[in-house]
Amino acid sequence: MKALQWQGVNKLAVGEVPDPQLRNPGDIIVKVRRTVTCGSDLHLLGGYIPFMEKGDVLGHEFLGEVVEVGPEVRRHKVGDRVVVSSFISCGKCWFCEQELYSLCDNGNTNPAITETLWGQAPGGCFGYSHAMGGNPGSHAEYIRVPFADVGAFAVPEEVSDERALFASDAAATGWMGADLGGVKPGDVVAVWGAGGVGQMAARAAMLLGAERVIVIDRLDNRLQQVEKYIGAETLNFERTNVALELRERSGGRGPDVCIEAVGMEAAGKGPQYAYDQLKQQLRLQTDRPVAVREAVHACRKGGSVFVLGVYAGFVDKFPLGALMNKGVTMRGAQMHGQRYIPMLLDRMARGELITEHLATHVMPLDQAPEGYRIFKEKEDNCVRAVFVP
Ligand SMILES: NC(=O)c1ccc[n+]([C@@H]2O[C@H](COP(=O)([O-])OP(=O)(O)OC[C@H]3O[C@@H](n4cnc5c(N)ncnc54)[C@H](O)[C@@H]3O)[C@@H](O)[C@H]2O)c1
Ligand SMILES: [Zn+2]
Ligand SMILES: [Zn+2]
Repeated sequence: MKALQWQGVNKLAVGEVPDPQLRNPGDIIVKVRRTVTCGSDLHLLGGYIPFMEKGDVLGHEFLGEVVEVGPEVRRHKVGDRVVVSSFISCGKCWFCEQELYSLCDNGNTNPAITETLWGQAPGGCFGYSHAMGGNPGSHAEYIRVPFADVGAFAVPEEVSDERALFASDAAATGWMGADLGGVKPGDVVAVWGAGGVGQMAARAAMLLGAERVIVIDRLDNRLQQVEKYIGAETLNFERTNVALELRERSGGRGPDVCIEAVGMEAAGKGPQYAYDQLKQQLRLQTDRPVAVREAVHACRKGGSVFVLGVYAGFVDKFPLGALMNKGVTMRGAQMHGQRYIPMLLDRMARGELITEHLATHVMPLDQAPEGYRIFKEKEDNCVRAVFVP
């Protein structure tokens, strides 16, 4: 079958790989109908997560049709249209029982790398390097889905492919940020990043009752999407003093909840940014935490910061003093998709959550290398590139 393969830093090609086969009794094989790029893939592409091997198949957000089921699969049959959580979880371990699905003890078949890096291994993910299990990704004609009764969900008939696709990762991630960030009715919420993840976090905050939601980015086309499709307020950080403006819009206190949806390749300005970039390029620090610093600084006393953006290792100039003295709570996580996808699909069916505007570019899988180039460069106002195998 055809698949998009990583061939080295910033090198992608569509090639032939073996068809996937059922391996365990709980597996299904899905014929991919739609698969989409994610900001997380850019970190792999750029070599910031150094556990890719030549030939690895990329992609972790997808929707498709079930074409084969293992003998122990109960919830799916051949012909079903399913959307699949990007993180792979067994549904039975202690972490899955706590609904901390991305922390599953059995989802990552290759835990040694992250155990060494982080002390413990989180779960596995499709198409996300050998640190996350080395599972073949979804930018392919077919994919094997382990623990399918836990991670794959039938899509209601009234929800289109284009909308349901984003339940796989971006919408679930955004929802988690607002939920575990502790958004309550009446809160003021600030979201850094107006990509797919930030937009979904903003919508989740609104649906959870936030009084004001403000999304920060520098790309006007994305901020326009936020105003038009999400219904949140916006701030362009290149033209505004973010901290002052957020204070102004939150009765002088600062936002109650700050959600960071930018990640390790954040943009910024001034000498501090130049220093971060240089250190990252020399591999003296792995991540540029520009938006995390800003969020901790802007957050109201006693508020919370939730880190959705992906970080791999170590950061410099972390504002621990602000965090400690202001009593700020900080959390982060990879997304617990299995916990949110059914609810998200219901909301999509009711029209409360729309996502299809994120798919600014739709193209055949053959054009995926070009799709990634446009997505990476944010060319032609690209927010997400969707591939149709
Ligand atoms: N936690 C999870 O499970 C999970 C899941 C999906 C994605 N992610 C991560 O979330 C992050 C965002 O993903 P995405 O797909 O929306 O990415 P994206 O690249 O499409 O969007 C990131 C946005 O952040 C903006 N940005 C850059 N620097 C900024 C700054 N200093 N302040 C404010 N905005 C800034 C960019 O202009 C861009 O619009 C990535 O790091 C991705 O890896 C995490
Ligand atoms: Zn993703
Ligand atoms: Zn588990």
